[in-house]
Amino acid sequence: MFNLILFGPPGSGKGTQSQLIIDHYQFTHLSTGDMLRNEIERQTPLGLEAKKFMDRGALVPDEVVIAMISNRLDAQPDAKGFIFDGFPRTTAQAQALDKLLALKSTAIHLVLSLQVPEEELIKRLLLRGQTSGRSDDASETVIRVRIAEYYNKTSPVADYYARQHKLHQIQAVGTIEEVFSRLKEKIDKRLSELSLHPLSSGSRS
Ligand code: AP5
Ligand code: MG
Repeated sequence: MFNLILFGPPGSGKGTQSQLIIDHYQFTHLSTGDMLRNEIERQTPLGLEAKKFMDRGALVPDEVVIAMISNRLDAQPDAKGFIFDGFPRTTAQAQALDKLLALKSTAIHLVLSLQVPEEELIKRLLLRGQTSGRSDDASETVIRVRIAEYYNKTSPVADYYARQHKLHQIQAVGTIEEVFSRLKEKIDKRLSELSLHPLSSGSRS
């Protein structure tokens, strides 16, 4: 099993690059943002509660997202690897994830942190907001709150993984294909260090 975190601020390309990684490596995608939006669409109690935070650009409470991730990990015992997108977003979430993976005799193997200047993030999100229907893309004020949440609460997670020597920074400006090839280089290198063939279903932890 291979566990990868795609890390970065709102609009840095986590979702876009996750899709390309899944297509290439057949890992399982775990995006807490997508899971929460699905709950909102189905108007579940969890979704209605989460919406209050998401509409103003704030993080949803840790216990909510940790429980969602825990359920998804349990539901997919045969996954050959997971891509965590938008999770963990606080140090408490990172610590909880380490514990959940340890229970499954595995761990995080690589953290790739997408680097994009703030003005480019805002440009990308405002552009997407014209068509996405995402309430949190609609106004520059909310986008700036999301970015502030990232710097205040999420960026310490990078230090958490840097201390574990798992963090690599990736320049994420350029075409989508250029960014993907930078990510692929790091993933292939790590897979080969772990003696996992990129396209095999190896079961080493
Ligand atoms: P979430 O859904 O995770 O959103 P986010 O991280 O704020 O940002 P995005 O998903 O919008 O950006 P992305 O990095 O995926 O970029 P994308 O590929 O889409 O979270 C939403 C909310 O849910 C949070 O605010 C919070 O309330 C809650 N939440 C979620 N997880 C949580 C957690 N763990 N804890 C607590 N709360 C949580 O790309 C963006 C745009 O840029 C797209 O239009 C794309 O086409 C374009 N683009 C991508 N790459 C490029 C490129 N190279 N050049 C030009 N444009 C590009
Ligand atoms: Mg996303």
